[in-house]
Amino acid sequence: MPITDDIERLAHGNPTREGIARLLTVDGDEQEQLFQRARQERRRAGGDPVTLRGVIEISNHCQKSCDYCAMRSPNGEMERYRMTPERILEIVAEIAANGIPIAFLQAGQDPAADAMVAKLIPEIKRRFDLRILLCLGERPRATYRRFAELGADSYILKFETSSPAHYRAITRTSLPARLDCLRQLRELGYAVGTGNIVGLPDQDLSQLVDDVLLALKLRPDFVSASPFIANQSTPFESCPQGSLNTTLNILAIYRIGLRTPLIPNVSALEKLQAGGQRRGLEAGANVMTVNFTPPSYQEKFNIYSKQRFVVGLQHALATIESAGMEPCSSTRTASLAGLPS
Ligand code: 5AD
Repeated sequence: MPITDDIERLAHGNPTREGIARLLTVDGDEQEQLFQRARQERRRAGGDPVTLRGVIEISNHCQKSCDYCAMRSPNGEMERYRMTPERILEIVAEIAANGIPIAFLQAGQDPAADAMVAKLIPEIKRRFDLRILLCLGERPRATYRRFAELGADSYILKFETSSPAHYRAITRTSLPARLDCLRQLRELGYAVGTGNIVGLPDQDLSQLVDDVLLALKLRPDFVSASPFIANQSTPFESCPQGSLNTTLNILAIYRIGLRTPLIPNVSALEKLQAGGQRRGLEAGANVMTVNFTPPSYQEKFNIYSKQRFVVGLQHALATIESAGMEPCSSTRTASLAGLPS
C-alpha cells in the first residue's frame, strides 16, 4: 500500500495507528517522499529560516534517577558543578553578540539553582533583547509562575515516553505528574516544548506510535525527538543506540501532523552519524541549538554521553547551508559582520 494515503491522513489530522507505524519505518524513496512533504509543510507554514538558540548548561546537579542519563543523582562518578550568575551573564552577552535571539538555560533537575535563575531572568531581559527558554525539569506551579512573571518565555519538558508504566520503570517518577507540569506551564503563558526518546530499551513500535500520537495530541509550540544514546555510568550503558532513520521519520511526522511548531534538530542526530543534523533539517526540523557552555563544564554535562557531539556556531551555520536553508535574520546579519563565534 502506498504511503501517500498515510501522509494525507496525517496532514488532515486523522492519522491511523497503522499509518503512523508504516511512516515510522519508511526508508529509501518512500522516506524521501515523506521528507519532501515535511519540507513543503514547513515552507507553507513560514518555518523555513532556521531559528538559532544559544544554550548554557548552568548546572549538572539532578534530583532524578533516570536510567538513560549520566546526570542521575546516584551517579557518584560525575563531578557536579553549578555556574555562577556572573559567568552565565558573560555567556549570554556572547549569545546576543552573535545575533542569536534566544538564551536557553538548561540544567539537571536542580531546585537549588532556582534562586539564581530568578535573579538571572530579569537581568538578562534588562540587558539584552533576547527570549528566554528554560529546561530545568519539574517544579511546583509557584516556581513556574515566578519565572514567567520575571520574563521567561518558553519551557521544554519532554515526556520521553508516553507509557506511564515505562516512564515509571526508567525514571521512578510519574508521567501524569510530568504532563501536569506541562499543562501548568502552558496555562501560565509559556510557549511549551516537549518530545520523546526513540529506541529506549524495551520500547517497541507500538509504543513509538503511542509516543507520536501523544505529541500530536499535545499540540506543543515546539517538539522534538532524540535517538536514544547509551550513556556511560548508567544502567543503560550497554544498550543499543536508537535508530537515526526512525528518529528522522518522527521529525517529518511531527512537521506534517502539526505544521507550525519549531522542531529542534538535536545534536544526538549528528552523534549517531556525521551529517545527521543535515538530514534532520531535510526531514522538517528548523531549529539549531548552539552550545555556549564553556568546555570545562561541557564535559561534565553528560546529557547523551561523555563523547557527545557539541554544536558550535560554525557547525550550525554550515549544516544550515548544506541543507539549502538560511539562519534567522539576526544571526545572519551578525555572522556576515564577522562577529566572534
Ligand atoms: N539519549 C537520548 N536522549 C536523552 N536525553 C537525556 N539523556 C538522553 C539519552 N541518553 C534527553 C531527554 C531529556 C533531554 C534534556 O535530553 O529527552 O529530556
